[in-house]
Amino acid sequence: MARLPAVPVLPDVLALPAVEAGQDVSVRAPATSANLGPGFDALGLALTLHDTVRVRTTASGTILVRSEGEGADGLPTDGTHLVAASLISTLQRAGYRADGLELDTLNVIPHGRGLGSSAAAIVAGVLAGNALLPAGERFAPAQLLQWAASLEGHPDNVAPALMGSLAISWESGRVYHSTRVDVHPDIVPVLAVPDTSLSTESARALLPTSVSHRSAAANAGRAALLVHALGADPSLLPAATQDALHQDFRAPAMLPSATLMRGMRAEGFASTISGAGPSVLTLAVGESDAGAAEDALHALLEQDETPGGWRIIRLAVEREGANVGVHQG
Ligand code: HSE
Repeated sequence: MARLPAVPVLPDVLALPAVEAGQDVSVRAPATSANLGPGFDALGLALTLHDTVRVRTTASGTILVRSEGEGADGLPTDGTHLVAASLISTLQRAGYRADGLELDTLNVIPHGRGLGSSAAAIVAGVLAGNALLPAGERFAPAQLLQWAASLEGHPDNVAPALMGSLAISWESGRVYHSTRVDVHPDIVPVLAVPDTSLSTESARALLPTSVSHRSAAANAGRAALLVHALGADPSLLPAATQDALHQDFRAPAMLPSATLMRGMRAEGFASTISGAGPSVLTLAVGESDAGAAEDALHALLEQDETPGGWRIIRLAVEREGANVGVHQG
């Protein structure tokens, strides 16, 4: 999971008023798959795989994070943990601090697999921080999107994690915007998750600085088609998920994933690299097609002699996005 870029800590942070101690909130934030083929840096889909965090404000003067689940052993236990850092920076942005914090996180989203684990952590921290603020001081949804996207550095994962379903995001003069689109009920996401990870930074380093007009035009057409296919006509998904901007350039860094995705596409499935990879997302249409996709994934993986394990996970589209619960003491 990526570390948060340096958050400016206000020099006079201790002079800020503290949020009330004894508060107890939980946030559940979903995995997300960005790009979906041609929607590079713009489209993202929320999936029914969730990380959860429970946060208690204390008067202890210390920050303690206990993590369980995916990648838990390597995670910090202090305020540098991504959920805690996002929470603290959200409080500071509103002009508050916490005297003490205790966080219990349960991670289900695999790290470094292109499934939005960093975005889920940032969204969980931002929403928890917002919920701990005094009523009347909380941020509006557009401000939460702006802040979470600024922390992540791009909006394509945090937007669907916040809003659910499909999000189309864009940036205008350093301001992030996003709109939510309903997804056709027949669409069933099937993930193939390798046991190897890849950082988004390394995957981005493989991209060229320019592409041909022909590639850009082809990609624009498929991205437009993809929004229609996801919302109204899933039969168009195999054509609509064809990308010309990033997947081929990144293939050398994730050859088994590229081979699997190409094999699935050759069999007519709408498969893409999930986010910056290396997971492979297949958008099946109906449960029987999802079963066929799982069978095809298993068969292709058996043929491939590349070592390493894979998990095949059938999910659904997360329609609601992250949610916040407040526990009464
Ligand atoms: N759109 C980003 C990329 C997703 O592909 O680099 C990273 O989560």
